Amino acid sequence: MVNNFRSYLEKKRALIEEWIDNNFPKGSGLGRRVIEASLYSLKAGGKRIRPILCLMGYELFRSDSEKVLPFACGLECIHTYSLIHDDLPCMDDDDFRRGKPSCHKAFDEATAILAGDGLLTLAFEWFTHPKIIKEVSPLALLRAIHLVSKAVGLVGMVGGQMADLLAEGKKGDARTLNWIHTHKTVLFLEASLVTGAILAEAPNEEIKVLSKFGKKLGLLFQIIDDLLDIVGDEKTLGKPVKSDLKKKKITYPALYGVEKTRALAEKVHRDALQALEALSHRDFKLLKELTIYLLNRVN
Ligand code: IPE
Ligand code: IPE
Ligand code: MG
Ligand code: MG
Ligand code: MG
Repeated sequence: MVNNFRSYLEKKRALIEEWIDNNFPKGSGLGRRVIEASLYSLKAGGKRIRPILCLMGYELFRSDSEKVLPFACGLECIHTYSLIHDDLPCMDDDDFRRGKPSCHKAFDEATAILAGDGLLTLAFEWFTHPKIIKEVSPLALLRAIHLVSKAVGLVGMVGGQMADLLAEGKKGDARTLNWIHTHKTVLFLEASLVTGAILAEAPNEEIKVLSKFGKKLGLLFQIIDDLLDIVGDEKTLGKPVKSDLKKKKITYPALYGVEKTRALAEKVHRDALQALEALSHRDFKLLKELTIYLLNRVN
């Protein structure tokens, strides 16, 4: 089972890389530098969790997920933009990402800002790629784009990033922490999964179940991210450790300590698996494996 899951991840990652390689704008003309910087960060590595979630959400209902690959890759563009901006000196000020110098280090700050802008915009070009328009219902596509736009915008990830910065150095409480994590991370991960189901024209009741599961999975993801800042290995992680500590961020370990955070992660992991049970008539084995993988991940 675990081997099957690992090979599933590898297979999907290879498809994602291939699609990006074949479709990324070719660097030509005077704007070449920003294309190089965007591709540098996009191709630096990364687990590709968001596009894979989208494919998994689709595959619960239909088998031909290659049809939504451009959409899934668009999600990875948005994610990479958020990482490039997150690392900037005016934000988390981190010099390493995905095992390489962060975009603003490999290039410069202005280029990194523009690379982020470019990737965010490219996502919408890919969401509406002629290949997708030909294959999926236009209404489903609009619904999916609406959902993800909201999840990563002012009332989603961008708002969460704002709150994360404003909370630095302050004495945090559980409510603030939950608000930050929900907005900066959870909504986008949830939307990545749910857009897959929407594109497959899944029934609304099942979309609701996936939404509930996605929220738990997203929270689990960010709790482990917080934990890895303390207990992780920099080389394996590919990004600096103790960065949250330095910046006095409100995180799970900052509020509850490492041990209690681990116990909380296990509880959220159980809640996620329980939420999945409502889909017992579907083949949700891969989502179950993904939940276990996200609990035990080291990068
Ligand atoms: C890191 O995301 C940013 C968070 C939301 C915590 P990932 O851990 O998915 O980063 P990559 O894509 O694998 O580099
Ligand atoms: C970032 O959260 C979430 C984003 C929207 C990029 P973090 O600041 O914790 O992510 P890392 O730890 O730098 O990857
Ligand atoms: Mg941050
Ligand atoms: Mg950061
Ligand atoms: Mg982090």
